[in-house]
Amino acid sequence: MRVGAYDFLEKPFNPDKMTDLAKRASQTRRMTLDNRALRRELSDGTTIMKKLIGTSPAMDRLREDILDLGQADGHVLIDGETGTGKTLVAHALHAVGPRAGKKFTVVSCAAYSEDQLGTRLFGPMDEGGQIPLVEEARGGTLVLEDVQALSQPLQARLLTFINEQGTPAETRIIAIVNDHEQGRTVEDALRPDLYFRLAALKIVLPPLRARGEDILTLFTRLAEQFSEEYGCEAPEVTAQEAAQLLQAPWPGNVRQLINVAERAVLQNRRGSGSIASLLMAENEEAGPAMTTEGKPLKEYVDSFEKMLIDNSMRRHKGSIANVMDELCLPRRTLNEKMAKYGLQRSDYL
Ligand SMILES: Nc1ncnc2c1ncn2[C@@H]1O[C@H](COP(=O)(O)OP(=O)(O)OP(=O)(O)O)[C@@H](O)[C@H]1O
Ligand SMILES: [Mg+2]
Repeated sequence: MRVGAYDFLEKPFNPDKMTDLAKRASQTRRMTLDNRALRRELSDGTTIMKKLIGTSPAMDRLREDILDLGQADGHVLIDGETGTGKTLVAHALHAVGPRAGKKFTVVSCAAYSEDQLGTRLFGPMDEGGQIPLVEEARGGTLVLEDVQALSQPLQARLLTFINEQGTPAETRIIAIVNDHEQGRTVEDALRPDLYFRLAALKIVLPPLRARGEDILTLFTRLAEQFSEEYGCEAPEVTAQEAAQLLQAPWPGNVRQLINVAERAVLQNRRGSGSIASLLMAENEEAGPAMTTEGKPLKEYVDSFEKMLIDNSMRRHKGSIANVMDELCLPRRTLNEKMAKYGLQRSDYL
């Protein structure tokens, strides 16, 4: 274990325990990989803000929140369904704030037993010579993933640690809620005094299905990125496929959309399959059928229109004449629609 095994079981082992352990190990592994990739890519605030795709009001608000709360430098609680961007936002908060370039330490509170976690976080230093994380993170940011999994005694220790820090806090804490057990909120999981210390500043990431046309923006940008990577054409999105993208339930949120975009590109390269069939397969796995969630038709139509203009502007690198030609639109109508959807020619040049 000292050289990196996650845990071990002695024979005869209990299958439930083994399943539980394997699940936790893979979650932890994914968290480590998520954070490692982000750390490599995004050490500065501008890069990370550029990585956030989306032009919906919810995304604009999120960007403002990141800049404001990043600067405010207090503890932050981040909540939201799986794959909505919580880990990414934690990195962004650090990168745009005054602690950029200082320590950024991440731990999952669900990855250890209570005793192990207590030692890992607060010490004393174990015989392997690992420095307690609160020491390691001093002066920087300490990210507590799966904060809902903290036991009551550890919540008490964390609260003491927070209270003993001066103002402003020496170490900034970003707590991330990762698991939404049926009907149990983070407010139920954490003692109120700790909750209020951690959640003075709070960011709740909206699920993908509530982000409207951003679904199409994300899909087209991601498909573009993957087609560059694989050296092939990006798939064209038909009206029907756009409607399906907008209506799918997306339980895995942005992470799931990234997978679908990558597979759509690979499929397109082989010249087989359609986005529709991919989504069908996704939704079979997800169970319940697609829903419109009562969104008005106009919203779909607008989203689709925006996507087509956006795509055409990209293809023609901002040449209004070519776009007018391709979409058979008079200049005035094109200008009006671009203004309506917040599209700016300068972004495509
Ligand atoms: N708005 C966005 N634009 C572009 N990429 C995004 C956006 N939001 C999230 N992503 C990407 O989606 C993937 C999932 O995001 P992230 O790992 O931050 O989600 P999470 O909420 O931490 O998920 P989990 O709860 O499963 O840990 C990452 O690859 C991330 O870079
Ligand atoms: Mg995460």
